[in-house]
Amino acid sequence: MNTTTADLQRPLALVTGASSGIGYELSRKLAQRGYDLVMVADNAEKLSQAAETLSEIDDDAQVEVVQADLSQREGVKKVYDSVCALRRPVALLAANAGVGVYGGFSDETDLEEEISLINLNVTSQVHLVKLISRDMLERGGGDILITSSVAGVLPGPRMAVYAASKAFLRSFGQAIRNELNDKGVHVTVLMPGPTDTDFFERAEMEETVVGEADKQDPAEVAEAAIKALNENQGHVVTGMKNKLQVGAARLMSDENKAKAHAKQTEPKQPSKH
Ligand SMILES: NC(=O)c1ccc[n+]([C@@H]2O[C@H](COP(=O)([O-])OP(=O)(O)OC[C@H]3O[C@@H](n4cnc5c(N)ncnc54)[C@H](OP(=O)(O)O)[C@@H]3O)[C@@H](O)[C@H]2O)c1
Repeated sequence: MNTTTADLQRPLALVTGASSGIGYELSRKLAQRGYDLVMVADNAEKLSQAAETLSEIDDDAQVEVVQADLSQREGVKKVYDSVCALRRPVALLAANAGVGVYGGFSDETDLEEEISLINLNVTSQVHLVKLISRDMLERGGGDILITSSVAGVLPGPRMAVYAASKAFLRSFGQAIRNELNDKGVHVTVLMPGPTDTDFFERAEMEETVVGEADKQDPAEVAEAAIKALNENQGHVVTGMKNKLQVGAARLMSDENKAKAHAKQTEPKQPSKH
């Protein structure tokens, strides 16, 4: 068989939320494994810094950046159009961008922030996965990673809309996995527990029990995610502590799961000294 330029080209991975945390580590590890990258985030400066750092670590990887606010439909269209303009198929999509909103639902949190969370964590994921999975299906192959959370199995007092968004992604991911798996498009749902990223600061959760607790390294989360994708696992809960928590949750009522989760999202009591 003749070797063409296309044969020599590295596969392309599209990673959203790629400028920091889990998405950055996914990008870094995918580049190390031979992927070229399209990295997406909203803050252009942070994104180009992340891409630059990554290019310095791995100068074989071709890295494109797309600044897009994925809480807006235009942002998703911009990402898709930018990828189409490259005229290269997306071999792997990591649909990872997401944020949290912290506080009592009825009397503390802002409705607009929660609707924006739904637009980002839920609507944009459905929109982007629709466009990319359709192309993958036409080509007969591809990998999709959807970042849910252990919060996807635990109703989340003081982060009710966030936990519900992650439950949506878990269900959505498993459903389309069932539809697509035999057609060569493999979907894996990533379920990290508390991970050491900008997430808690951004959600103003630093002074909560979970905000102050030990967290998993995002590089470990990314490694587990890529292993699960390679093995075509339906989902992966990262870290032993989180696996035990999700295992225990299987035996609990939703009401008791919410009670257990509420202990994690409580404000940290100031020390008496
Ligand atoms: N950290 C945890 O404990 C944890 C646990 C379970 C699941 N997760 C999930 O993991 C995913 C990644 O979060 P992380 O922990 O890595 O936090 P992070 O470091 O804050 O990363 C969030 C990423 O999403 C991007 N993003 C946020 N709003 C966006 C928007 N409107 N449009 C485009 N991009 C946007 C951010 O870019 P900009 O700064 O440019 O906005 C950033 O690249 C999220 O879906 C989160 O829910 C996190």
